[in-house]
Amino acid sequence: MAASSAATKVCVTGAGGFLASWLVKLLLSKHYFVHGTVRQPGDQKYDHLLKFEGASENLKLFKAELLDYESISSAIAGCRAVFHVACPVPSTTVSNPEAKMIEPSVRGTTNILKACLEAKVERVVFVSSQAAVSMNPNLPKDKLIDESCWSDKEYCRRTKNWYCYSKTEAELQALELARNTGLSVVTICPAVVWGPILQASTVNASSLILLKLFKGLESLENKQRWVVDVRDVADAILMAYEKPEAEGRYLCTSHSIMTDDLVEKLRRIYPNYSYPKSFVEVDNCKKVSSEKLQRLGWKYRPLEETLVDSVESYKAAGLLESK
Ligand SMILES: NC(=O)c1ccc[n+]([C@@H]2O[C@H](COP(=O)([O-])OP(=O)(O)OC[C@H]3O[C@@H](n4cnc5c(N)ncnc54)[C@H](OP(=O)(O)O)[C@@H]3O)[C@@H](O)[C@H]2O)c1
Repeated sequence: MAASSAATKVCVTGAGGFLASWLVKLLLSKHYFVHGTVRQPGDQKYDHLLKFEGASENLKLFKAELLDYESISSAIAGCRAVFHVACPVPSTTVSNPEAKMIEPSVRGTTNILKACLEAKVERVVFVSSQAAVSMNPNLPKDKLIDESCWSDKEYCRRTKNWYCYSKTEAELQALELARNTGLSVVTICPAVVWGPILQASTVNASSLILLKLFKGLESLENKQRWVVDVRDVADAILMAYEKPEAEGRYLCTSHSIMTDDLVEKLRRIYPNYSYPKSFVEVDNCKKVSSEKLQRLGWKYRPLEETLVDSVESYKAAGLLESK
């Protein structure tokens, strides 16, 4: 959408997170002026952002909490585009109370969109998730999962899957607000995002899933996984802003692999780690399509590159022993 990125002010919410950090890096490399929102400015968990090339001139961090409208609105004022990435993401190790997931995700997104309307933002790119697409027991097994599919909110509620519930509700509300107000909103729904981590002192939930494969587990579910590289998702998000023809939702997934095949792939590249000893079969096979995003010009890298770059970054961050 932008004629030229030079000096175009854009806002990235949750700038210090795994995916948002790559997006900030990409935007700075294209000379955008980035307003990044963080909750605890000054915390060392954001130090990596300040080291990106161009950060000293073109990155300004704002203290903002999704449920505090004033803080959000100050960060968005003057921006042509907003990339709404921030969201509470469930950890695999702690329970996730309903209110802590739903409120910031749903009301937080509405706050962002209202601030965007007030600031006359050109376009909002909202990072939703495949969690808002395929968590639906009524989807026929042979149906190709595409942008027309939605997770079943009632099923998510019944199964207490508050992450899926809140991503679905937030995306539905975002697209409805866009229809009702004319605000340009494009949503990106990534599968599980892996790839190198830039943040030094925090590990996001999806990277923990990959790290778990190296911990010598006795047993693990053998299910289908849909994976996309964090750098490819950042490209998709920027494309959703820069391409005027982008509209509606985009599924963003590159590779589908069963857990046992994934483990074999990793074992071939890194033979000296302890991998899961056995697998329990789970039948969750589906076909998911990112054709709409590819028609927009999106390309993705090979899975091997994602895996190797992830593992090397975990080693460099001291999360995985070098073997
Ligand atoms: N990673 C995946 O596999 C995956 C897959 C599909 C979709 N997504 C979506 O991608 C986005 C980023 O995920 P990620 O993996 O990069 O997660 P992440 O590293 O945990 O980042 C989440 C960010 O959200 C911010 N945040 C959380 N609650 C907030 C609140 N109440 N107010 C303001 N900021 C808040 C956090 O800010 P602080 O730094 O201040 O704590 C953090 O920077 C999320 O919307 C997620 O749903 C991720």
